[in-house]
Amino acid sequence: GGTVRHPSVRAVSPAALDEAVRVLRAGGLVAFPTETVYGLGADAANPAAVARIFAAKGRPADHPLIVHVASAESARDWAATFPPLARTLADAFWPGPLTLILPRSAQVPDAVTGGRATVGLRVPDQPVALALLERFGGGIAAPSANRFGRVSPTTAAHVAADLGDRVDLVLDGGPCTVGVESTIVEVADGRLTVLRTGGITPDDLAAVTGAPVDTTPTGPARAPGMLAAHYAPAARVVLAEAAEAADTVAQWVEKGHRVAVLAETATVPENLPEGVVVLPSPASARDYARVLYQRLRDVDAAGADVVVAIPPEPAGIGLAVRDRLLRASRAH
Ligand code: TXA
Ligand code: MG
Repeated sequence: GGTVRHPSVRAVSPAALDEAVRVLRAGGLVAFPTETVYGLGADAANPAAVARIFAAKGRPADHPLIVHVASAESARDWAATFPPLARTLADAFWPGPLTLILPRSAQVPDAVTGGRATVGLRVPDQPVALALLERFGGGIAAPSANRFGRVSPTTAAHVAADLGDRVDLVLDGGPCTVGVESTIVEVADGRLTVLRTGGITPDDLAAVTGAPVDTTPTGPARAPGMLAAHYAPAARVVLAEAAEAADTVAQWVEKGHRVAVLAETATVPENLPEGVVVLPSPASARDYARVLYQRLRDVDAAGADVVVAIPPEPAGIGLAVRDRLLRASRAH
């Protein structure tokens, strides 16, 4: 049989960052931590390097990538225009889990945007990511560092397990602190449209800008890749509100399934049937977001084929957790 090569997972050091920069300059792939999820990065100015991202993930070429930069000032090089609304949002939320969709500048390769007229830009709030971006100097195009359609990675080990030797170097910056992908906002004609919910809520956006914030459900035309049933573990995800969760669990157990339960501590049903796996419970919506993808992996590791999930309250980052669980529940 063939030999299995493992990617080099590196603890962060000046030498590891230098090596990461060398890999990026040579057109290679570097997985790196952000505050949301791990990204699979390539030199955004190098179309051949960007093409390697799509090959490594098995991602359709028309799903555009986010360009990560070290500062709002560098973001301006990648946008054709940077309207006052975008400036206000960048001042308020960068570095942070907010991606701005703006008209692209001439230096953005078609490979990054799938030929679209716009580009997604973000300054991540993670010291390793910022150190890498500063040393590299350019933009780093990066989707989440998972195979297409799989659960997003929130540790270096997740990346290594999922991508293996399809990535040249993995920078290990510890577990991600936010845990769900960035809020994506399109800025156009003095309006904001939320294309993906995340750590920055529509209320946050409205409070800072005073601008109208559209939260109509996302469609494939607006943010390609957002409608498909992503974010799913191998197990079937079943959503239940707290009051009905015990009944839902009992029904799946009766049908002969191995059932796991994911819920905040306060909403875990009592007196569950024998054999039901209660996953370590998050204490709050913020905590729920931080551990969500790890818990979805835990479901599979526990050998459960159904997970009954009680989502957090639909407020703050709880909106993003509900969104991801809803998408995961549509995968089966
Ligand atoms: O938190 C995050 O955003 C993470 C970390 C690594 O930064 N990245 C991430 O990338 O989640 P990805 O590729 O998994 O998701 C990016 C989403 C895609 O669904 C894509 O449709 C949307 O951003 N997107 C990117 N550029 C776009 C554009 N020009 N117009 C509309 N949607 C865009
Ligand atoms: Mg993704």
